[in-house]
Amino acid sequence: MSRPLSHLRPTPLREFLYGSAYYPEHWDAATRARDPERFRAAGWNIVRMGEFAWDIIERAEGVYDFSLFDETIARFGAVGIRTLLCTPTATPPRWLTRDHPEVLRFDADGRRQEHGSRQHAGHFSPVFRDYSRKITRALAEHYRDNPHILGWQTDNEFHCHFREDYSPAAEAAWAEWLRARFSGDIAALNRAWGTAFWANAYARFEDVVLPRRDRPSQPNPAHWLDYQRFLSDGVAAFQRDQVEILRTAQPRWLVTHNGCFGAIDYRGDFTRDLDFLGYDSYPFFDYDPRARAAGHAFNLDHVRAFSGHFLMLEHQSGAGGQGNYYHDKPEPGEMRRLAWTSIARGADGLLFFRERSCRFGAEEYWEGILDHDDVPRRRYHEAARLGAELARVGPLLLGSSVRIDIAVAGADFSVQHGHEPITHGLPSPKSMAETVHGVFYRAGHAVGVVHPADALAGLRLYIIPHFAIFDPAWVPALERFVSEGGTLVIGARGACRDLRSNVVPETLPGALRGLVGATVEEYGRQNRPDIRPLALRLAGAAEDTPTTLWYEQLVPDAGSGAEAVARWTTRHLAGSAAITRRCLGRGQVFYVGTYLTREFTEALLPLLKHFSALPPSLSSVPGAEMVERVIPDGRRLHIIINQTESTLRVPAPAGARREELADRELETGAILELAPHEVALTAG
Ligand code: GAL
Repeated sequence: MSRPLSHLRPTPLREFLYGSAYYPEHWDAATRARDPERFRAAGWNIVRMGEFAWDIIERAEGVYDFSLFDETIARFGAVGIRTLLCTPTATPPRWLTRDHPEVLRFDADGRRQEHGSRQHAGHFSPVFRDYSRKITRALAEHYRDNPHILGWQTDNEFHCHFREDYSPAAEAAWAEWLRARFSGDIAALNRAWGTAFWANAYARFEDVVLPRRDRPSQPNPAHWLDYQRFLSDGVAAFQRDQVEILRTAQPRWLVTHNGCFGAIDYRGDFTRDLDFLGYDSYPFFDYDPRARAAGHAFNLDHVRAFSGHFLMLEHQSGAGGQGNYYHDKPEPGEMRRLAWTSIARGADGLLFFRERSCRFGAEEYWEGILDHDDVPRRRYHEAARLGAELARVGPLLLGSSVRIDIAVAGADFSVQHGHEPITHGLPSPKSMAETVHGVFYRAGHAVGVVHPADALAGLRLYIIPHFAIFDPAWVPALERFVSEGGTLVIGARGACRDLRSNVVPETLPGALRGLVGATVEEYGRQNRPDIRPLALRLAGAAEDTPTTLWYEQLVPDAGSGAEAVARWTTRHLAGSAAITRRCLGRGQVFYVGTYLTREFTEALLPLLKHFSALPPSLSSVPGAEMVERVIPDGRRLHIIINQTESTLRVPAPAGARREELADRELETGAILELAPHEVALTAG
C-alpha cells in the first residue's frame, strides 16, 4: 500500500462490501446448504470465515482438512458472495498447546494462560511463530487460485483480551529488542530511562526485567513505555510473517485486520503492512442510550485517524451477551441506524457479527442477524433493507472521504501509553479527546480526530487537548497550519514530557513555547475544587468559569505578541493569565491553562466564536447527525441520521438535489422529515 496513512485515505475497495461473519463449523449440513440463498436475498456479497477454526483445518499436526471451508466457500461463491478468510491464529488447537505448552502467554502475575478460551498463545514464542507461518502457508497455498477469496483478515482482534506477555519467550525477546534499540549500549538505556532512580540501573540487557505495575510499587515511566513499544513491534512482526506469506501466494488478495486495541501502533508498520485497517464496532457496551451516539461517532473518527477509511469487519447486530453482561437489545431501526452511522463516518464496507446466534460456547448469547431458532425476524428484515440500499448507493460512497472543519488530536501511541503509568488521576489523552470531540459533535459540527503528523490542510480549528508527551517534530507543520489561517488550541500540560517519557528540562510548554509565545509559571492539580475552588474570567464574559482538575498560571513572552484572553480570578492566581492567544500569519494559537473538561470546553465556545475560530455547524438540528462526504469529482454527499427518539425536521443541505435512500428528487429548501432512527442520504 503506497499511499501514506492519513485520515483522508480511502480504501482501495472497488465494491461496497456487505455481509457478516459466518461460522460453518457451528451449523449442520442442511443449515449450511440453506444459508447462501438466504443471505444473498438480504444483499450479502461477502462473508468472513475461519478465524477460530484452526483445529478443524488441521485436526492433528500436519493433517489438513479444508473440506468444510471448500464446500462453504463454493456454495456462497455460487450465489455471488465472496469470502474473506482469516488466519486462525487467535485459537491454536489443543494438540499444539498440549505438545508445546511453551507457546502459551503469561500474565503479569506470572500465570500461564491455558487452553479453553482464546488468545492464549504469545506472539514472542518462536515456536508459535513457526506454527503460525505453517498454518498460514497451508491455507494460502490451498486457496491461492480460489476465485471466491477476496482476501484475508489476519488473526482476530490482536490484544483484545490482553496485550501483555510475561512468558519466558517474551523475556528473551525483550533483551534482544532492547539490544537493538540501544545499539548494544546498555549505558544508553540507563541514560534514556533515567535508571539512576530507585536502583534501576542495569549492567546487561539480559538483566532488564519486564515492567509490572504495582509489584510492589510504580514502574519507571520510560521503562513502561518502551515495553508497550516492544509489545507493539512483537505483534506487528507476528502479523508480518502472515502478510508476507499471503501476498507471495496471491498478490491480488487484500489483507486487513480487525482492530483497535492497546499496545499496537496503528499508525506504524502494523497498518502499513495491510491494505487498509478493519474495525469492530459494538456501541451497546455503553449502557446509556443517550450517550451512545457521541461515543460511537468518536470511536469511528478515532479509527479513521489511524489510517483513513476502513472496513467494518464486525458490527453489532443484536444484544451481546457473555459472562456477566447482556447488552440492551437494539430496538427496531436501531441496528440499521448504527450501521449507517458507521458507514457515514468512514466504513467503506460492513459485516455484521454474526450470521446467527450460536447455540453453544462462551458466546451462545451473542446475538446474530438470525436468532437461535433460525427464524428470520426483524433484524434480518432490517439488514435486508440496508442491503438493498447499499446495493444502490454503495458505488456513490466508495472513494469519497469524510470532510471535517474541526479536529481533535488523537491516535498517538506514545502519548496514550505514556499516560498509563503516571496518570496523576487525570483522564487519558484518548478520553480527553473523546470529551472535547463530544462537545463539538453535540453542537452539530463537522468534527473528527486527526493525528498531529497527519494532513491538517482544510481544517479550521485543531485542538490538542493534553499531550503531555509531545514530539517536537510536529511543531513546524502546526506552525504552517496556523500561518495559513488555522486556529490551534493547546490544552494544559502540553509538551511537558519527551518521547522517552521523561520530563523535559525546558520551561513549559517546552517545544511549544515558540508557537504559543507564553510560559507556564506555575501549575497544579485541583483535587478538591469543592473546597478550594478556582475560576477564571474569559474575555467578553460577564461571569467566572470554574475549572477542575488542573491549573496553570501563564506569562506571555515579551515581544511574542501573545496576550491573555482569560485571567484567573481566585486565590493566589488572581489576575494572572489563564488562557493566551497569539496571532501568527493568518491564524491564531490559544493555550488553555486548565483541563478541557466537557463543561469547560462548552464554556470556551463563545470565546472561540468571538475570535472567529468557530466554524459554522453542519447540522442545525440537535440530534440530527450530519456527515459530509466529498466524492473525487468534487460533489458532496450528506448522510443525515436521526439519533433521537422523536421525529426530526431537518432542512436539506444546500445544493442537495436528490435523496438517494428513498430515491427521490428534492426541491430547493426541502425539509427532510426523519422518524426516530431514520437516515437520509442526499446528493448534490
Ligand atoms: C469481538 C470478537 C468476536 C466476538 C465478538 C462478540 O470482539 O472479534 O470474535 O467475540 O467480539 O463478543
